[in-house]
Amino acid sequence: MKYRTIIEPFRIHSIQAIDLPDQAQREAALQRAGYNLFGLHADEVIIDLLTDSGTGAMSSEQWAGMMRGDESYAGSRSFFRFESVVKDITGLPEVIPTHQGRAAEKILFSVAVKEGDVVPNNTHFDTTRANVEYQGAEARDLVVAEGTDPAAILPFKGNMDIDRLRATIGEVGADRVPLVMVTVTNNSGGGQPVSMANLRDVRAVCDEFGVPFYLDACRFAENAWFIKMREPGYENKTPREIAREMFSLVDGATMSAKKDGLSNIGGFLATTNPDLAANARNLLILTEGFPTYGGLAGYDLEAVAVGLEEVLDENYLRYRIRSTAYLAETVAAEGVPIVQPPGGHAVYLDAAGLLPHIPPHQYPAQSLAIELYLAGGVRGVEIGTVMFGKPDPDGGPDTPAPMELVRLAIPRRTYTQSHIDYTAEVVIDVAQRAESLSGLTITQQPPWLRHFTAKFAPLD
Ligand code: F0G
Repeated sequence: MKYRTIIEPFRIHSIQAIDLPDQAQREAALQRAGYNLFGLHADEVIIDLLTDSGTGAMSSEQWAGMMRGDESYAGSRSFFRFESVVKDITGLPEVIPTHQGRAAEKILFSVAVKEGDVVPNNTHFDTTRANVEYQGAEARDLVVAEGTDPAAILPFKGNMDIDRLRATIGEVGADRVPLVMVTVTNNSGGGQPVSMANLRDVRAVCDEFGVPFYLDACRFAENAWFIKMREPGYENKTPREIAREMFSLVDGATMSAKKDGLSNIGGFLATTNPDLAANARNLLILTEGFPTYGGLAGYDLEAVAVGLEEVLDENYLRYRIRSTAYLAETVAAEGVPIVQPPGGHAVYLDAAGLLPHIPPHQYPAQSLAIELYLAGGVRGVEIGTVMFGKPDPDGGPDTPAPMELVRLAIPRRTYTQSHIDYTAEVVIDVAQRAESLSGLTITQQPPWLRHFTAKFAPLD
């Protein structure tokens, strides 16, 4: 190619205004929200990088598809279109729509996991972990050691540690391991991809012990692109072929269509196991809806069906992964420590590296996330001891999380390069005065998923 600039392979068709609250308004908003960025109103945020989940822009083809939505309670045309796309991409024969990813997790774990079980994963996402623990089982993270070293530059830091997986199943016994899960890309571990070779190795261990293997497939297309770029033998395969091969190695998958379904809502559970599917459908009827809509409107199923096709477009994926890397490279060039190499959907700032003076139990990543908002109205999310640490029952310091990160997740097809340039400027400014930041204490917290609703007070 003659020109090196990779452009957005789309143009803007409809826009939404961004409010520009000033510093005093941001400070007041933070106080009201108890220093929890989940408590902000979206109008109080300038660049919203809280999540890439359900926040992307849909295409005109998706909106057109929504007009075709068939709202029949049972057997709608939209369901069969959705089912056919999911089957075609995954090759998995049983497809159960759900309103989002965690509903698929809840249903899968309710039918497959019992008290005392152990579920291995490279790294559980927060809702996945909570849904496993809710069944009285243990969620065990077995990512390769390099996966928790932010500075190590390696192609597949999301890989499962195969030796630890084998040792874990050996230790607890295969009868207490109802399934093994691998999250692609590894969201809580820096959005790092998993190689096809690693998926094959996990499959082999699962076969050795007779344990089913499931994919947490939220970002399967981004993972497929990394395989194409980084794994020898895949450079000439299409993302669709690579995705199909990834799914061919598993017995099932949970999916949040709010990520690589390019939709604002939706998800599915897919499996090869008809008995598990039958149980899951019964539960679905109880909690989500009839098995041909699973808590979604017919038009949502249409949006997901179109989105799953669009996400595998090479021009889209090239732009997507490049635009995330662009933010990462811009801040890293100014010395800001980040998880390297950049993930697919987000840049993860290494708060432990940037704020060594704030100990984990004073939440350095929360402190950094708050300062990014105060300084420039940029909202990221803490992925550190607030999200994954364990409170001490006797009131002592929390058990820290393995990493203290601030995730800046990039909504799909939503922000332009100048939004990203602005974000980089804010990050660099805050990083340059990192030593002036101080920690926080938690003043209020719920028993589960505390990061969503906990309240904090700044320490001086
Ligand atoms: N698994 C992974 C790896 C995820 O990243 C998420 C959601 C889920 C499961 C649950 O899906 O939200 O549709 O119920 N992640 C979002 C995030 C919320 O911000 O990373 P859901």
